[in-house]
Amino acid sequence: MSVKDDHIALTGYDRRSEIEMQARAQAVLDTLLTRRSIRDFSDEPVPRDLIETCIRAAGTAPSGANHQPWHFVAISNSETKRQIRMAAEAEEAEFYGGRASEEWLDALAPLGTDASKPFLETAPWLIAVFAQRRGGETPGQDKKNYYVTESVGLATGMLITALHSAGLGTLTHTPAPMGFLTEICGRPKSEKPFVLMVVGYPAIDCTIPKHALIKKDLPEITTFME
Ligand SMILES: Cc1cc2nc3c(=O)[nH]c(=O)nc-3n(C[C@H](O)[C@H](O)[C@H](O)COP(=O)(O)O)c2cc1C
Repeated sequence: MSVKDDHIALTGYDRRSEIEMQARAQAVLDTLLTRRSIRDFSDEPVPRDLIETCIRAAGTAPSGANHQPWHFVAISNSETKRQIRMAAEAEEAEFYGGRASEEWLDALAPLGTDASKPFLETAPWLIAVFAQRRGGETPGQDKKNYYVTESVGLATGMLITALHSAGLGTLTHTPAPMGFLTEICGRPKSEKPFVLMVVGYPAIDCTIPKHALIKKDLPEITTFME
């Protein structure tokens, strides 16, 4: 096999038996089956090291041309969280008060959500995820980025997986529009706020909507063409 000059041999890949692979896949499934979006957070602190490790995990995601078009702003500062809560609740009040379509409000009804977002101050960490339209594979470049939404979505999924696997609760929050995050987080206008990840331990009296437990089964989400 010829190896291109700028390639190296694959490292870090372990070929496993099919039995071991099935067991490992099942273990991942078992872990992910226990993930729930939560909206009642404890104010118990979470170490920054843990957040750093989870963001590193997110940063391993595949991305268009390896441009890694994401930036994570991890916020534990009380005043910044308060500003985010105020701005988010102002947007959400307009959303629930008339901006959202009836169809959208109907879809949200089973979740029992409203414009009140106390968890934005209670949770120890908020991670604002930004999508970069321009950048490049190394910092400081100004090239066009490709498949930005797909790439940042994948990185965000890996972030949630890492946070959940570590034992933390999360809420993927999208107070639309989220433009206020750009200013509060001091990010350039060229970056688009993607999601606001709320992170911490569940409150002792945390509840979840039954609705969220209904997941489509394999035949509903899969077509095999063998
Ligand atoms: C892109 C995206 C945006 C979301 N935005 C919100 C939100 O703004 N507020 C909220 O309470 N939940 C939000 N959620 C959480 C969903 O309501 C939740 O994932 C869904 O009900 C399924 O529940 P589960 O995460 O426990 O499986 C969002 C989820 C996604 C993926």
